Amino acid sequence: MKRLFITGGSGLLGSKFVNYKDNYEIILTYHHNPYENSIKLDITSKKNVLKKITSINPDCVIHSAAFTNVDECEDQQKKAWNINVRGTENIVKACQETESKLIHISTDFVFDGKLGMYEEEDQANPLGYYALTKLKGEEVVQNSDLNYAIARVSVLYGWHKRNNFVTWVIGELENNNDIKVVTDQYNSPTFADNAAYALLKIIEKNKNGIYHVAGNERINRFDFAKNIAKTFDLDTNLINPINSDELIQKATRPKDSSLCVEKAQKELGIKLLNTKEGLGKMKLQKEKRVKE
Ligand SMILES: NC(=O)c1ccc[n+]([C@@H]2O[C@H](COP(=O)([O-])OP(=O)(O)OC[C@H]3O[C@@H](n4cnc5c(N)ncnc54)[C@H](OP(=O)(O)O)[C@@H]3O)[C@@H](O)[C@H]2O)c1
Repeated sequence: MKRLFITGGSGLLGSKFVNYKDNYEIILTYHHNPYENSIKLDITSKKNVLKKITSINPDCVIHSAAFTNVDECEDQQKKAWNINVRGTENIVKACQETESKLIHISTDFVFDGKLGMYEEEDQANPLGYYALTKLKGEEVVQNSDLNYAIARVSVLYGWHKRNNFVTWVIGELENNNDIKVVTDQYNSPTFADNAAYALLKIIEKNKNGIYHVAGNERINRFDFAKNIAKTFDLDTNLINPINSDELIQKATRPKDSSLCVEKAQKELGIKLLNTKEGLGKMKLQKEKRVKE
């Protein structure tokens, strides 16, 4: 059984690997929020990262931990650099020590959003500080001599104790609150459960290089919100369209950072889900939980 060490195991994406405990030995790490037998790890501590990873000696490290709050990264640049760049350097060094494969999780925000439907080799041009640190993290991995893959995801969603866009929309609409959602930001929303499955395929097939592991759809936030309302039988009239310039956001977002997922689907032999399919699965998970 392969041993997988998941940084950010308490996060939305990392937490989804608990579903694969029968097929893999899964070791999850957390930083401030313990989750299901996870072990504490601060990736900014070079010494601790090396100690933990060498003692566990994993076949593969999935590096999902990051400072993910895009707007806070603008104000807390030192922290963002320490976690997203230095933290990645620490993970790389430990993987070199143990000769573990590294799957590094990155983002559609490495692109400036002028084109949309980006392919893996397209030119990156980050707009904000979060995006810059994530691109630098990619470079740290690419410049190493590791057996690595970089998986770029986009607007992750799924059930998790912390809100993401989908759970926020559901919560607001259930409480009959009006919400404003932008019509001019396009992404490829990624069902976290589906992304976790795809990452395991990268390991299984021992693939290297960059993969766009995102939803198979280019959609703007407003239409995504409407799909959420329709799937969960909520009132679409509560969702009001606005433009990005009416919204105060500290970090500049790319207008269209949607990702082409053809390479991942073809080489990994999987189907990446569009929002209707991913949201449908979320609804089934909820119904199952209610029954249990
Ligand atoms: N969320 C998105 O929409 C999105 C979009 C594109 C790319 N991504 C990328 O996808 C990956 C996963 O994102 P996510 O949304 O699942 O993350 P998340 O839910 O925001 O969780 C972040 C994780 O990183 C951990 N972490 C933060 N600082 C740490 C530190 N110093 N040492 C160790 N762990 C630390 C957190 O631990 P605690 O909670 O225990 O403190 C948590 O497990 C990230 O690399 C992110 O950049 C996310």
